[in-house]
Amino acid sequence: ITAAATAVALSFTAGAASAACDAGEIVIKFSHVTNTDKHPKGIAASLLEQRVNDEMNGKACMEVFPNSTLYDDNKVLEAMLQGDVQLAAPSLSKFEQFTKQFRLFDLPFMFKNIDAVDDFQNSDNGQAMLDSMQRRGLQGLAFWHNGMKQMSANKPLIEPSDANGLKFRVQSSDVLVAQMEAIGGSPQKMAFSEVYGGLQQGVVDGQENTWSNIYGKKFFEVQDGTTETNHGVIDYLVVTNVEWLENLDADVRDQFMTIVKEVTETRNKESFAVNQQARQAILDAGGVIRELTPEQRQAWVDVMMPVWAKFAGDVGQDMIDAAQAINA
Ligand code: LMR
Repeated sequence: ITAAATAVALSFTAGAASAACDAGEIVIKFSHVTNTDKHPKGIAASLLEQRVNDEMNGKACMEVFPNSTLYDDNKVLEAMLQGDVQLAAPSLSKFEQFTKQFRLFDLPFMFKNIDAVDDFQNSDNGQAMLDSMQRRGLQGLAFWHNGMKQMSANKPLIEPSDANGLKFRVQSSDVLVAQMEAIGGSPQKMAFSEVYGGLQQGVVDGQENTWSNIYGKKFFEVQDGTTETNHGVIDYLVVTNVEWLENLDADVRDQFMTIVKEVTETRNKESFAVNQQARQAILDAGGVIRELTPEQRQAWVDVMMPVWAKFAGDVGQDMIDAAQAINA
């Protein structure tokens, strides 16, 4: 009875934080907003959780809270600074309160594909960005890929003028606000968890996102169709609290960082394929996908490109040049 009571007491202590955690283990709560399956971030988060719990058993344990069940992206960084959550992977568009550097990734048509994004992130310029918010208490550990963005609405979008007067949901990024204004749309910042309802109820008419998000959250079901524009990127920063990381024992920190690095390399290679599978799943489910001719796509480039000049001061012309050199 004593042993059982002790076990119950111990599991209760740990259980309050996580079912996967034993007493004495460092608890790593990882909050994110997407699906767990058929999604680049969801799959990577699950793999990270599994590896930490297998390989660091007795030292640390991880519990992933997907689908905005713990925090949405607008709250998670504050929660992290308060120590309520240890890991998150918000899209790079969601760091506006902390740095203007990431605006580079939101500039339309900055990167031609996810490989170019990968090359930039792995360059010295990209790697330096991981440390850009240390002063604000946040440490970037890795970039995780999602993929290229597509545009959807409650009517066909072929010419940029088709977007005139439409209300578009955007992530909490002023670059994306400017981009939607450039096409004559009316942008509204909204949390990811509210997009489906917003589209369904007509609070907004359209949105931009990756195939995996459009499929995973069923946006295609409440839209006329999706136009394959590949006009921008959604990528993530795996981020933690500087102080929390510093306070880990060196061996625990090293092991954790190695696992993060390996999971990043393994899963980033698969992100394109995961999005293409989601694209196919949309078609299989009866969703409409519209492709553009090169001339039609160029019209979107022409109306969106002036957005760069507005934010060149924030991101630095040298960064834009470096990104473009990689694209070439
Ligand atoms: C969005 O808000 O649309 C995305 O950033 C969600 C995500 O995490 O992919």
